[in-house]
Amino acid sequence: VSAGSRSKLPPGPRLPAALQTVRFFRDPDGFLSRCRRRYGPVFRVSILAAPRLVYVTERGLAQRIFQTDRGIGRAGEVRRDFLGPLVGDHSLLCLDGDEWLRQRRLLGPAFHGPAVEGFRREIAEIAGREIDRWPVGEPMALHPRMQAITLDVILRLVFGIRDDERLRRLRELLPPLLDGGHWILIWALPSAARQWLERSRLVARLGGNPVARFRARREELDAILYAEIARRRRDGDAPEGRGGPPDALALMLAARDEGGRPLTDDELRDELVTLLTAGHETTATGLAWAFERLMRNPGSLARLREELAAGESAYLDAVAKEVLRSRPVVMDAPRLLDAPLELDGHEVPAGWLVAPAIPLVHEETAAFPEPEEFRPERFLNREVDLQAWIPFGGGLRRCLGSHLALLEMKTVISEVVQRVELEPVDPAPERRRVKHVTLVPSERARAVVRPAQGAGRSYDPAYAHSMPARSSPPPVERLTG
Ligand code: HEM
Repeated sequence: VSAGSRSKLPPGPRLPAALQTVRFFRDPDGFLSRCRRRYGPVFRVSILAAPRLVYVTERGLAQRIFQTDRGIGRAGEVRRDFLGPLVGDHSLLCLDGDEWLRQRRLLGPAFHGPAVEGFRREIAEIAGREIDRWPVGEPMALHPRMQAITLDVILRLVFGIRDDERLRRLRELLPPLLDGGHWILIWALPSAARQWLERSRLVARLGGNPVARFRARREELDAILYAEIARRRRDGDAPEGRGGPPDALALMLAARDEGGRPLTDDELRDELVTLLTAGHETTATGLAWAFERLMRNPGSLARLREELAAGESAYLDAVAKEVLRSRPVVMDAPRLLDAPLELDGHEVPAGWLVAPAIPLVHEETAAFPEPEEFRPERFLNREVDLQAWIPFGGGLRRCLGSHLALLEMKTVISEVVQRVELEPVDPAPERRRVKHVTLVPSERARAVVRPAQGAGRSYDPAYAHSMPARSSPPPVERLTG
């Protein structure tokens, strides 16, 4: 960085990186809001073990960053360092350029709106079975319950796994693998040390070692996934004895690139793990926030119930969008720059990261008046500038699973609010806590639930006619195939 361009660098706190890192992780919202007040809509922060990072907090600047997807910005390389060991070399999350484009084109059709729309009924059934297990009248955390639902959705509807024994094993294996305190541990190591740990036979023999445990779990997961892929190739694409729409894996197996080539087994394995990594915890967190917000906004909850009872779904859609507006799950959407980028009179050098701070863009008052209020109505009147609503990022790298995520959120919210009454354990709003790249409710969305008055059937006309009666247990044979 030359002396001339140094003066154009975005401003930022002078605190040592270690202190900035601690403040950032302890209270990301507070830290970034203070930076914005002090330095304006473009500022730089120093986070330990990461490249220099510049945040923007306005929609126009966020869109400029997303536009770099067509040129100097790389989203994949940023993620490879910490996600690579789990998701592998072929993952859509970690690739850039032509290789990324090939994978994205092959996966895209399986996640378009029409492809996932057919999952609605089965998502409602998965949610219904989970809700039936909830304890009545005692405090419980909703976040883990949502994790159970979103994991089942991916395993059954994306992977197409129906066999009870395989599902059981995956439900045990995956949470510790995806949750991993090991990320921090592995991520913080210099990459040479990490690679040595990853490969070392000696380390693998030390059972108590987190790296060895991680590796053993990943190997078991891989064995299950490769067996599943082989079985599906052998038996044709039809999921095990089930009517209904094809699962995402069926469409991925059938996909061909421009040269007529299908995805290889290694590519399929990496993309399946990618979908789990990107799609399970994020959607569960979005749902946890939905209930955290609805419980504390009884007016919105009452209106939602009324509209659902009347067979209307517009308000449900607005609720899901306002949840992701006021409590976005993902903190930021960084791009690594190959060349300098001008932002609002500042110059960000090549080799630095630039990212929209998603929660701050969502608090821009010009786009969202009284941003601290939970008000789904703002999405009903089409008054929202959708350039400012970026919970799924933007540009070419926008979330692949946004249709599925919104469908899941709407379907599960609808099932829960029609079947149970919800009461917060503590009326104070839950704080945001940083977990990896997500912002989760500090108390995991604690609630007391009781059966809703008049509950007993689903009111959503989109699937009401095809739902099994609520009073009898779901027909197990059909669901497990
Ligand atoms: C509420 C739930 C979700 C949220 C908030 C969310 C958010 C995001 C964000 C912010 C990005 C980065 C976009 C960017 O850099 O511009 C992303 C990428 C991605 N998401 Fe999601 N996501 C959710 C659910 C899902 C689901 C259900 C799936 C799939 C099953 C999924 C698959 C992906 C993939 C594969 C990418 C990488 C895309 C690429 O790099 O080309 N996500 N998501």
